Amino acid sequence: MSQKNVARGGGALFADPGPDGFLHRSFLRGEGIPPEDRTRRPVVGICSSWSELNPCNAGLRTLAESVKRGVAAAGGLALEFPTISLSEPFTRPSSMYLRNLMSVDVEEMISSSPIDAVVLLGGCDKTVPAQLMGAISAGKPAVLVTAGPRPVSCWRGRATTIDDAWPLIERRRLGEVSDEEWREAEENLVTGVGTCNVLGTATTMAAVAEVLGFAPPGSALPPAADPRRHAIAERAGEMIVAAYHEDRRPSDLVTLASLENAFRVVCALGGSTNAVVHLEAIAGRAGLHLEASTLRAWAATTPLLAAVRPSGEHLLSDLEVAGGVPAVMRELAPLLDLGTQAADGRSWQTVIDAEEQQTGASAGSGALASLDSPLAPAGMAVLTGSLAPDGAVVKVSAASQRLLRHRGRAVVFDGIEDVNARIDDPDLPVDADSILVLRGLGVRGGPGMPEVAHVPIPAKLAREGVTDMVRVSDARMSGTSSGTVVLHVAPEAVVGGPLGLVRDGDVIVLDVEAGTIDLDVTPEELASRRTATPPPPPARGYDWIYQRHVLQPDRGCDFDFLRADFEGDVASPVT
Ligand code: FES
Ligand code: MG
Repeated sequence: MSQKNVARGGGALFADPGPDGFLHRSFLRGEGIPPEDRTRRPVVGICSSWSELNPCNAGLRTLAESVKRGVAAAGGLALEFPTISLSEPFTRPSSMYLRNLMSVDVEEMISSSPIDAVVLLGGCDKTVPAQLMGAISAGKPAVLVTAGPRPVSCWRGRATTIDDAWPLIERRRLGEVSDEEWREAEENLVTGVGTCNVLGTATTMAAVAEVLGFAPPGSALPPAADPRRHAIAERAGEMIVAAYHEDRRPSDLVTLASLENAFRVVCALGGSTNAVVHLEAIAGRAGLHLEASTLRAWAATTPLLAAVRPSGEHLLSDLEVAGGVPAVMRELAPLLDLGTQAADGRSWQTVIDAEEQQTGASAGSGALASLDSPLAPAGMAVLTGSLAPDGAVVKVSAASQRLLRHRGRAVVFDGIEDVNARIDDPDLPVDADSILVLRGLGVRGGPGMPEVAHVPIPAKLAREGVTDMVRVSDARMSGTSSGTVVLHVAPEAVVGGPLGLVRDGDVIVLDVEAGTIDLDVTPEELASRRTATPPPPPARGYDWIYQRHVLQPDRGCDFDFLRADFEGDVASPVT
């Protein structure tokens, strides 16, 4: 793995008897940091994505204080710093568009600051992968603490979680929700800070961070407002000091074995499909690549174990009672490599053995099934075929079983405005067997693959009782959504992928068990449909970098020059 030249660690700089140390210590004096603290080692940066523009991460400021206590107790000095923070609901066109920018911010702050190690504070969907990607590229020891899920509210007799928003919005579109119900729902949907309170992308990535050995074992699920989260943060402060002394680096944690463990845990959880893209991006920062065929094989052999919203009926708190991520790993043990490291330096085998002694076996509870008697043979499927030569993903756990093998005629939409204009047109030539294709919203077309692939069921079919149809898109879907939606079709339409050549009435054949999605049109006919690609619209600023360097989902949508295997753009030197 290529390592850049990074700033000397904080310890070395602050102890320097010459002018460097003189100036570093002088500036800490200016912050009022006492002399005994100025000699503490290691110096630990706390990389915070706290922001009032990111309500999911708005609790991180107080967690930073707990991390500082842990670092100080272990003999270190903690210095908190901000980076940009990406809010899923507030960032347009998509928080994914800015994930790589945040990763560069994180990497450069870690690399260029006088710190020996870092504790990352993340939460909302893209902040955790951005922080992991940046920390892996920076190379200094890193531990991650997540914000934790926001409270579950109780409204009209039901425990209300974020996924309840989507059917409500659908019913409002159909004119079935009164103004009063609409206002009441708004008051009850988000009742505190913290990340989405189901197995959406944020909790899925919190689980991934645990499995990869960045986040403390058992840290993904305790709620944002739970005092235990402060204990976790304090413990993370102690862990980072130990990781520094033992010289545990991100490159030791991100291996093919740990990536396979993380991917299988995502599948068993019925976790967010966004994790597939982020895991490949994380792999790429460590000089690794997850082939579509490899992911397909792992997905096909990992059964669904968690019955948690949006895939099941249970709450995250039920999964936590069942033992959380360590319990999922214990159940999946025959499929995992438990010699990999957890964030506290122990092997996962040791962690799981210790938890079992404390809590006893808990699989078989309603929220977590056992490997012997899973909820379904698979939670996720990775597809390839003539419609998606470089891959596509479907969240099997949130799909309709009857649609997993389906043949239907395409109804094509070019962009979200086209959907909004025509989806409820009574004359739209669509029936329950049609396949709704939404394209032009991929990595570059979106840009950033906005979470809109979950095309609404046309009103005339919804009124007849149709609740799910096969949908196919180069966009993404929120981890809190459900439905039979084939996502991340690669290559995307705007870079010449076959998805861009589909016409209304073409037959699409989906076979999830076989792992295929095909367009039943001859190659000759498809070739005749190809026209010259129009020149891309002019770009400036970040978009200029993005459009030239972003890779397709099979390379994690990372920028080419950020992956560890980048060999340099020698053909176009900077002038
Ligand atoms: Fe931030 Fe879901 S919107 S975690
Ligand atoms: Mg989301």
